Amino acid sequence: MKKRTVLTGITTTGTPHLGNYVGAIKPCIEASHDEDVQSYYFLADYHALVKNQDPERMQRSSLEIAATWLALGLDTEHAVFYRQSDIPEIPELTWILTCSTAKGLMNRPHAYKAAVQENVDAGEDPDFAITMGLFSYPVLMAADILMFNSTHVPVGRDQVQHLEMARDIAQRFNHHYGELFALPEAVVDEHVAVLPGKDGRKMSKSYNNTIPLWLPEKQLRKAIMRIVTNSLEPGEPKDPDDSALYAIYAAFANTGQRAAMRQAYQDGISWGDAKQQTFELINQELVQGRERYEALMAEPARIEQTLREGAVKARAWATPFLARIRQAVGIRKLA
Ligand code: TRP
Repeated sequence: MKKRTVLTGITTTGTPHLGNYVGAIKPCIEASHDEDVQSYYFLADYHALVKNQDPERMQRSSLEIAATWLALGLDTEHAVFYRQSDIPEIPELTWILTCSTAKGLMNRPHAYKAAVQENVDAGEDPDFAITMGLFSYPVLMAADILMFNSTHVPVGRDQVQHLEMARDIAQRFNHHYGELFALPEAVVDEHVAVLPGKDGRKMSKSYNNTIPLWLPEKQLRKAIMRIVTNSLEPGEPKDPDDSALYAIYAAFANTGQRAAMRQAYQDGISWGDAKQQTFELINQELVQGRERYEALMAEPARIEQTLREGAVKARAWATPFLARIRQAVGIRKLA
């Protein structure tokens, strides 16, 4: 019997960047080898549809993200790796949960409230450009989580509120229909670095400051050379704790490398040399994965096949579990 069920979704918007790698992909892939854990990782393409209404970009992003996880060594024997939209039980559960979720609960999420506030501030109608998808997003996310009785859900800090909602939704359902769902817990890893971007703010698509994970070597070097530093000259001591470049280095370095680099900063390493060393360290970590990534991208049928196999495994649990849920709510055969 596995001790924990770990599940997390990756929204398929955009191209994976170094921040995704350090903050989510790498720790999840490491966890996928843990014998005490049953892990579920999936491409949250229904979630992506809320933000991304460009069909080509939708498909491209799913392909890139799946190829990334596979290239980096996700253990698909041991972890269940699937695409949300291959599991019809999820939208079905979403509806069932929607029917017992209070609308008042749905008015609370920060992301939704911020969108409304932005409209109000701009003098627009409060509902301007807000779809039902954005509004209902947390119920779909609750269905993702509750479908597999997940106990531990690794997420970024911005998703903690959605986890609380998933618990509320589960509790309300359990109270009315019987104890079907496990209550999930958010796992926010304090040790996992929040990677700064090229401008020093958190690396994020929304700040347009990302370094894509799979840049060809030359372009990766160029991108690292463009990380913002200050005007201290070679020979002048530099403060590693006030440097986005150092933080990026540190996220890829081991303890010894970190200590040596801190010393080099104090000894006045030039920004050019610090950047070169940062590039070399990151490139060395990614070089093998990059080759596998390119090979996978050239063979999308292989990725498709892997995802379908994942869906079969996911549904081996989801289909009978949903049958129990349908039974519990009274969607039953008449005779
Ligand atoms: N909303 C999450 C994000 O933007 C992605 C996601 C969708 C997810 N479904 C999930 C994460 C279920 C954890 C569990 O990061």
